[in-house]
Amino acid sequence: MQVLAPMATVYHDEDADLAVLAGDTVAVIGYGNQGRSQALNLRDSGLHVLVGNVGDEARARAVSEGFETHDIAAAAARADVAMLLIPDEVMAEVYGRDVAPHLRPGRCVSFASGYNVAFGLITPAPSLDVVLIAPRMIGPGVRDRYLEGKGFPSFVAVHQDASGRARARMLALAKGIGSTRAGCLELTMAQEAHLDLFTEQGFGPAMGLALRQSIELLVEQGYPPEAVLMELYMSGELAYSAQRFVDTGLVAQMDFHSHTSQYGSMTRSARLLDVDLKPRLLAALDDIRSGRFAEEWTAEQRAGLPLYNQMRALREQIPLVEWERRTRRAFRMR
Ligand code: NAI
Repeated sequence: MQVLAPMATVYHDEDADLAVLAGDTVAVIGYGNQGRSQALNLRDSGLHVLVGNVGDEARARAVSEGFETHDIAAAAARADVAMLLIPDEVMAEVYGRDVAPHLRPGRCVSFASGYNVAFGLITPAPSLDVVLIAPRMIGPGVRDRYLEGKGFPSFVAVHQDASGRARARMLALAKGIGSTRAGCLELTMAQEAHLDLFTEQGFGPAMGLALRQSIELLVEQGYPPEAVLMELYMSGELAYSAQRFVDTGLVAQMDFHSHTSQYGSMTRSARLLDVDLKPRLLAALDDIRSGRFAEEWTAEQRAGLPLYNQMRALREQIPLVEWERRTRRAFRMR
């Protein structure tokens, strides 16, 4: 299949200027996975950072790590830029109650996920700059990479430019957290949300299905579960190879495998060419893009998470969980 795709814009350090935020106060709302790492990175980059948090252990940690901290409303009132780094499920309520009423015109609000804005759960006032800096990296990695002098990629977006400075602010924040060192790809908040959810709801389940059915089949065929799990993923070889996919490319990394492996893999991949997953993947993408998934998830949360809790309980009962325990014990893994 040949698709002519336009080249995306990717920003680097030289495209961003921290001086854009000189004299400004950046309020990091939430001091969890992303909030802590981003607040520390921004402070180390020389920006004036304070933390807005509810009175829990995250707030105590922010205090112990030397941050001026406030309740969320008080932090928002002091902010030139407010970075919303609390869980997406609580964000709309917190934004409406504690953040929006305190943001004066011309201020900037920054998200690390497009979800709430893309699906209409948060509609910031037209007088605000609205930007997205969504790291493709878990929170601890955001801090570790910064300290190592490396970066991590992000998806960025300017959703609303009330001040005429939204892109410059977004890039300065991205530089402050260390992301422009690696590169920040610009798209829309909706595109970021769609891609993120598709990885979780389309690609992830499809890959999980191939893995689960392979495990079931091999165990049914009499191979010891410990051997099957070791072979398929628990040895760490898969994770190691996945890093090679990143470093050298999916095709080029095949050269690291034996000729038998390459021959078998190429010829048997060709036999699967008639398996068309795309209609199922497109159905998942349609659910996301239409907003049906977001509506369903909001309703599920309002109902007290009945299906979520039921499915979490079920997943503990699948044999795989016990087989993994056995494998870990047998190989004296942690
Ligand atoms: P988290 O779960 O680590 O957030 C914890 C923080 O939220 C704490 O400061 C806690 O006090 C606060 N909080 C929790 N419940 C609250 C409530 N009801 N009201 C007010 N504050 C509350 O969140 P995480 O994972 O750092 O996610 C933050 C944002 O970053 C989200 O938009 C997420 O989608 C995005 N993101 C997260 C990534 C990750 O690796 N975790 C990766 C990229 C983006």
